[in-house]
Amino acid sequence: MAGEEGVPHDFRVLDRHQVWADGVERLYEQAKERQWDASRDIPWDAGRGVPEALEVALCTVLTWMVQQEFAAWYVPAKFVPRIHPAYLEPVLFLSTQVMDEARHVEVFTKRLFLNGVGFVGSYPATEASLQGLIQQEEFDKASFLLHVLGEGTFLDLFTFLRRVVPDEASRVILVRAHEDEARHVAYGTGRVRVQLQEDPSAIHRFVAALEERLNFARDVSGIPSQIQEALAVLAGGESRGRPFVRGVKEVAAFQKELQANRIQRLTGSGFPEAAARHISHLHAKASGNAM
Ligand SMILES: [Fe+2]
Ligand SMILES: [Fe+2]
Repeated sequence: MAGEEGVPHDFRVLDRHQVWADGVERLYEQAKERQWDASRDIPWDAGRGVPEALEVALCTVLTWMVQQEFAAWYVPAKFVPRIHPAYLEPVLFLSTQVMDEARHVEVFTKRLFLNGVGFVGSYPATEASLQGLIQQEEFDKASFLLHVLGEGTFLDLFTFLRRVVPDEASRVILVRAHEDEARHVAYGTGRVRVQLQEDPSAIHRFVAALEERLNFARDVSGIPSQIQEALAVLAGGESRGRPFVRGVKEVAAFQKELQANRIQRLTGSGFPEAAARHISHLHAKASGNAM
């Protein structure tokens, strides 16, 4: 706290329009009410006895998702002590996000090891891309990349997975996590709306943030092929034959949907249509993952 040497804090987010979202106090109240427990609230026994091909496909997707949950955990944790405490509600809200993402990492890891499979594969391109997010030093850019683009895509991914996962334990996990992500996205899109109302030229900052990120993710484009394949196995219900081909088609349709939803989310936050399309295209190029 304040001593003779001055205040030993490093507050860098000092303007309301950088951090405020209308209704953030309500989102904070919801976050407190809707906390859940990864040990107690998931019907873990209903996650056993999954056929091996489907279990491996599920663990492949979850491994890739856990990587991204870590990034979603570290980013708000990094900015909490940098936001001026005059903006208490957003700081409180971001603190609930830290807890939410920690729980997502916990619950996905518990599911990964439930039937003895554990982590499957590694995704260095995704890691490189996440580096661009974790190392972002400006809060408005980081929040745009994470809360609007990354978690927006995660929302769609959870909706897709909820339909295709092979067991009830995973389905409940995705329903609960989806609700958490919806709050994070609501904060992010609300925050962008406030910023764009105050300063429409901030659009250029967001485009720049994506371009900076492309430098980290040069070799990446779209969802990694192993993940697309695992999603197709889950969607089709089998790892070969006609069901798998049907799964591949479903995944292709899902990827189109991702793009359309992203554009809608951006225009809903106050972006002109052309800018929304440009940003969506850059994101698809830069991410190579959902975040
Ligand atoms: Fe999450
Ligand atoms: Fe999240």
